[in-house]
Amino acid sequence: MWDKLRAHHDTVKDRRFIDMLDATRAADFAATAGDMRLDYAKTNIDVTGRDLLFELLETAGVAAKRNAMFAGAAINETEGRAVLHTALRNLDGDPVVVDGADVMPAVHATLTRMETFAKAVRNGTIEGQGGKYTDVVNIGIGGSDLGPAMAVKALAPYHDGPRCHFVSNVDPADIAGVLRSLNPETTLVIVASKTFTTIETMTNARTAKAWMSEAVSDPAAQFAALSTAEDRTTAFGISPKRVFGFEDWVGGRYSLWGPIGLSLMLAVGGDSFRAFLRGGQAMDRHFRAAEWHENLPALLALVGIWHNQICGYATRAVLPYDNLLMRLPAYLQQLEMESNGKGVRMDGSSLDVPSGPVVWGEPGTNGQHAFYQLIHQGTRVVPCEFLVAARGHEDALHHQHQLLVANCLAQSEALMKGRSLDEARAKVADKFTGAELERQAAHRVFPGNRPSVTISYPQLTPFVLGQIIALYEHRVFVEGAVLGINSYDQWGVELGKELATALQPVVEGQDSAADKDGSTVALVEFLQKHGV
Ligand code: F6P
Repeated sequence: MWDKLRAHHDTVKDRRFIDMLDATRAADFAATAGDMRLDYAKTNIDVTGRDLLFELLETAGVAAKRNAMFAGAAINETEGRAVLHTALRNLDGDPVVVDGADVMPAVHATLTRMETFAKAVRNGTIEGQGGKYTDVVNIGIGGSDLGPAMAVKALAPYHDGPRCHFVSNVDPADIAGVLRSLNPETTLVIVASKTFTTIETMTNARTAKAWMSEAVSDPAAQFAALSTAEDRTTAFGISPKRVFGFEDWVGGRYSLWGPIGLSLMLAVGGDSFRAFLRGGQAMDRHFRAAEWHENLPALLALVGIWHNQICGYATRAVLPYDNLLMRLPAYLQQLEMESNGKGVRMDGSSLDVPSGPVVWGEPGTNGQHAFYQLIHQGTRVVPCEFLVAARGHEDALHHQHQLLVANCLAQSEALMKGRSLDEARAKVADKFTGAELERQAAHRVFPGNRPSVTISYPQLTPFVLGQIIALYEHRVFVEGAVLGINSYDQWGVELGKELATALQPVVEGQDSAADKDGSTVALVEFLQKHGV
């Protein structure tokens, strides 16, 4: 299949896709899920290419793999686990059976416990040792930070609960910066860690406990925990009443939908949190039922595969024209790169096509004044993914929102159209002549023919945020299923962790660096000389 796709690419790679873009293509190369719309007409994928990509889904058995995931099969084969974050948003769906037992009653019981706790914190029935909680600090990293931090920012217009802060980095500047302005007596600290062993999180949690113990008589009573490891949360001193557990079939980077989303629920309330879950559930239903040519996650995945594995474009820019989604690129970096940044197939053989792309980005219009220069005129093609809402939340400033939308549409148009040498000459013909005109014009040429997709939606509500996140999760699933890799383990993070543990005593001067390479020894020496 890859060969057929490559052969097709060879025959079309030099054409300008703008020449294909009539009204028929605009309608045909777009799809909707509810009122969310994906436009992929501004790509070089044609009907033949798309059919070949659909064939790729069939050859890879993606439908069967999708059904196995939803049914609770252990598709995370290297860890022998099911992959069931979808169960966390299965609000009124069918039973989901793992190892012979329906997991849904426990999922719903935990959601109800979270709601009861969040409501009590928000209305002051549960209070801190200095009165009603004013602030919440979520201590976690990776999936135990990026999801809630991204979502709390995204749903800022819906906040009516305590202020939420996030501490992730082991760099003491992070926790010191957050705690500095807080009153421990009215601060709730949430330790979010699936394993409750992650060194950054446990170090920060101990720091927070020491800070708390200077101000209140019962520091642990100001804490809550989100984890699969109740024995460890108990050992840390957190009451089981304040522990919200989940199962190992929820991957860290997929865990926002359950207890790891507690800070979001505290910020926006149980009803908005449920609306967020409903959005995810709606995308699940769409993903399971829609034909491939109407299936947003499958189409988004196929566009990604076309650009990365077939065209050879190694990166993908995510560009939300929605400032509330400012943390989405960082969130997607973990979701996509920790899931699909792998070179070994499920069966242990090596991948013979590139692994998932480098994902990066910033909100528009900020990025326009930073890195868009490279996207428009650099020698590497960067496929772009634009996200844009029809409406913001500031009705009185709607004209500003319209300017934002115009900028978003202008960028995808500019990337596609470019500017020819003749057009560039015409731009500066009144200022220059002769050789200088040629030189100046050359700098103003835009190659164009640069692909993008646009995801648009009415407004960034909790429901729509749920749709967006589930859309990306399933896109990652489809890409991983086509590549035949395991999107749900993360062995690539292990080696660095092991070496950091071994290097800690060396950095502290308790152990010798003798068995290290010359570069590492020199770095340790330099940093020790300067006071590490
Ligand atoms: O090191 C990678 C990782 O395991 C991520 O997959 C995970 O989201 C993060 O660390 C945090 O893990 P935990 O929630 O167990 O602290």
